[in-house]
Amino acid sequence: MIHAAVMGYGTIGSGVAEILDRNSVQITEAAGEEVALKYVLDLRDFPGSPVEDKIVHDFSVIEQDADVSVVVEAMGGLNPAYPFVKACLMAGKHVVTSNKALVAAHGTELLAIAREHQVNFLFEASVGGGIPIIRPLYRCLKGEVIEEITGILNGTTNYILTRMDRAGVSFEAALKEAQDMGYAERNPEADVEGHDTCRKIAILTAMATGKEVNYEDIYTEGITRITDVDFQYAEKLGASVKLFGSSRIDGEQVHAWVAPVMIGRDHVLYSVSDVFNGVMVKGNMVGTTMFYGSGAGKLPTASAVVADIIAAVRHKNMNIAIGWSEERQTIAPMDTSSYRYFVRVDGNCEENRSRVEAVFGKAELTVLDGLDEFAFVTEKMTEAAFKEKAVEFDSACQAFGKKGILQMIRAEL
Ligand code: HSE
Repeated sequence: MIHAAVMGYGTIGSGVAEILDRNSVQITEAAGEEVALKYVLDLRDFPGSPVEDKIVHDFSVIEQDADVSVVVEAMGGLNPAYPFVKACLMAGKHVVTSNKALVAAHGTELLAIAREHQVNFLFEASVGGGIPIIRPLYRCLKGEVIEEITGILNGTTNYILTRMDRAGVSFEAALKEAQDMGYAERNPEADVEGHDTCRKIAILTAMATGKEVNYEDIYTEGITRITDVDFQYAEKLGASVKLFGSSRIDGEQVHAWVAPVMIGRDHVLYSVSDVFNGVMVKGNMVGTTMFYGSGAGKLPTASAVVADIIAAVRHKNMNIAIGWSEERQTIAPMDTSSYRYFVRVDGNCEENRSRVEAVFGKAELTVLDGLDEFAFVTEKMTEAAFKEKAVEFDSACQAFGKKGILQMIRAEL
């Protein structure tokens, strides 16, 4: 029998306890032996709950109990998750986590400690919740040169953007709805500013390149500046706007970024809506693959944690080759990456249309009834080239009392 401990009895931790109980027959068969939950670490007591008699408040009880060989970290955040996880690995215990902040910030060190102690540090649930994506990268796609990973990696923002698209509501109204539904936090910054997606694409990029990625090197833009008017244009263009975390890998040149992108109906991620996540992985041999499902939530995320517990038990005396080395991956500056750009321009007048043609070249223009503005989509160019043209265009417009560019959204149309 394997004794396990769960640190943190919140949404994910309680989901893990529930699955270990409800699916115990399948789990015993898959792991080759019974997995028994011995401790649940939390500051709170949970009288009347199924884990009432397993609650401990002192981490050292878990750390010092040699019978506990697998520890689940479901506390979130870095403190005390980081020192606790490190201590568990150093005590020779396998650790499974759903904590992307921990993996993105300290994954390199924790993976190295796990290797040194011949235990496992597994984090399938840290990206894409219940969607298998980490394991496919180190198992099924291991023979590939990964060329691109692009994902809708945050359910909260995907829900907000879906509501803006389908119901025509503003960002603020959609955010309020997401909060009322329990999808968005009262302080939604980590989701809407793209920080959550940034940690996740950092982890996926490190998995794909085999090198450490500093999430602070990843250009990150959230969805707070996307408006209902942008979606009205998108509808006319047969498009939508999604928040992408993306890595484009060309040998040593790696671009990794988080930003809203306008995509057409033929894009493989177009139909990933509501709170769902989707991840597209392109390999040089396999071509395009897609992973889709629930990227958050109690049981989907806990399901991925439980699968990692089983993997740890199956490999209890060996370290699974997963993760990345200590070598740092250079992330290329955002200015060197190329896109098309959806651009909205103030003032639907002949002069402005001529200025667009003079600066950006011939482009098909889209207008919305009742608005003194228009939009167009540029040819593909680098961010640096776009910025230069935008400055030139804005100063030409502003000389005549117009605002120039009102909005820019990168486009894959
Ligand atoms: N806030 C995250 C989301 C939770 O909305 O996807 C899962 O990481």
